[in-house]
Amino acid sequence: MKVISTESSQILAARVAREAGLEIVDVRFSRFPDGELYLRTGPIDDEMVIIGSIADSDALVQLLLLVDACESSRNVLVLPYMGYARQDKQFNPGEPLSARAIARALSPGVSRILTVNIHDETVLKHFGAPAANLSLAGEIGEYLKGMDFSHPLILAPDEGAAEFGELVASAGGWDCDHLQKTRLSGEEVRMAPRNIKADSRDVVIVDDIISTGGTLAKATEMLYEQGARNVYAVCVHGVLTGGAHTHLLASGIRDVVCSDTLERGCSRYSAAREIVSGIGDART
Ligand code: R5P
Repeated sequence: MKVISTESSQILAARVAREAGLEIVDVRFSRFPDGELYLRTGPIDDEMVIIGSIADSDALVQLLLLVDACESSRNVLVLPYMGYARQDKQFNPGEPLSARAIARALSPGVSRILTVNIHDETVLKHFGAPAANLSLAGEIGEYLKGMDFSHPLILAPDEGAAEFGELVASAGGWDCDHLQKTRLSGEEVRMAPRNIKADSRDVVIVDDIISTGGTLAKATEMLYEQGARNVYAVCVHGVLTGGAHTHLLASGIRDVVCSDTLERGCSRYSAAREIVSGIGDART
């Protein structure tokens, strides 16, 4: 078994290969004169682990090409970040289920699929091969253990993320709660932890994705008004679009941390261990 990756997951793929003791296959990426993507792999194996985050449309095309280039192998496809996965419901007539479209397009030629903290696990049923979702809650817990927090409160941004927050908190036996929104008027919304006061606490907001960071920035300002000592944000996928990182720091967040499912300057913990264990399970 060998590891191969698209350009968007080179660092994570190297970590997976090192952690699993597998060889990594070299791939040359370039473009045709008209801008179309081209790639050429080195010698592949009978069994391959293909790793590619769908960070944008080019990354998706590159992943489709890589899966095709590995067609003769038995492939485990790892999608550390699955872009388009949040478009998993039809809100208006005429809209596609984008998550389904991507899942279907990537399935041919693949025998197992692994996702990481996919936004909604119901998307897994759209793949044409057995698919499993891995969670980095334990890795976030381990990362937080190395931080010097005073009386930390792990806070999920909403009730839907509460279970994720509890998994993170269980790693260190920390207090855990989720934010509750109360509408005060047409324009005014108050956000506060449902059960535990933020007063004098180091609050760590944990979420699967930080995209625009809009809700997080608003929540941070309110947590400081409620007496929080420090507010931090830790997520799995640092999409961080439209200046989100700067926007969050301007709101007073002390630090923003994400994993390497998307390779960012603030990627400070890795999905590699969890992926290696997922590959082991997929082979049995
Ligand atoms: C939503 O359900 C997700 O878990 C994230 O909370 C959301 O995608 C974050 O988006 P943004 O950073 O744009 O507020």
